[in-house]
Amino acid sequence: MTKHDKAITLAFTGASGAPYGLRLLECLLAADYQVYLMISSAARVVLATEHELKLPAGPEAAKQALVKHLGCDSEKLMVCGKDDWFSPVASGSAAPKQMVVCPCSAGSLASIAHGLSDNLIERAADVVMKERGQLLLVVRETPFSTLHLENMHKLSTMGVTIMPAAPGFYHQPKSIEDLVDFMVARILDHLGIEQGLVPRWGYDQRN
Ligand SMILES: Cc1cc2nc3c(=O)[nH]c(=O)nc-3n(C[C@H](O)[C@H](O)[C@H](O)COP(=O)(O)O)c2cc1C
Repeated sequence: MTKHDKAITLAFTGASGAPYGLRLLECLLAADYQVYLMISSAARVVLATEHELKLPAGPEAAKQALVKHLGCDSEKLMVCGKDDWFSPVASGSAAPKQMVVCPCSAGSLASIAHGLSDNLIERAADVVMKERGQLLLVVRETPFSTLHLENMHKLSTMGVTIMPAAPGFYHQPKSIEDLVDFMVARILDHLGIEQGLVPRWGYDQRN
């Protein structure tokens, strides 16, 4: 196994949809992935608003708060600060080949589309693109402006997967958790990680 195996970069940015990010983190850790997690300042505000989860600004303290909140194993989770340029995700020589920004704000979408690399989230996305890895952006905004659509189009032509946070209803969700799991299941499918969150269309479910 190389250092790239079963490792993934995850970023929470300041779009609505913190439950998607938290559930994805939980599933990645349960699947025994080494997760390099970054949390933007705006994402911390959203987490506090949507989840009543107040994360401290410091990476280690944020990690401890997340581990407590999720009740997960801390061994495989590394929280990286926004200026932690010595983190593995900052360099193509060490960064995981897969990265998900979930949820992804229109602001981070724009920064990534223009290669700003002004904080570690933007730099990590830039690294994954230049290394021809897999980048998934779970964008959330409504409606989309022409600028948002242009940024998504630009990234899509470069091989980035744009996955709007738009859960389906054909699995007859009964709860918010069902809707969250729908999105997380689609993300895990794209990453090639086995999941049993939602019945697979045409296989596990016949109406
Ligand atoms: C509660 C809350 C909800 C937000 N929802 C969205 C959203 O759904 N989509 C979006 O693009 N921005 C949203 N924003 C605005 C972003 O957080 C803001 O543009 C921020 O600068 C994004 O920074 P980041 O990409 O570094 O996290 C929201 C902000 C707050 C406080």
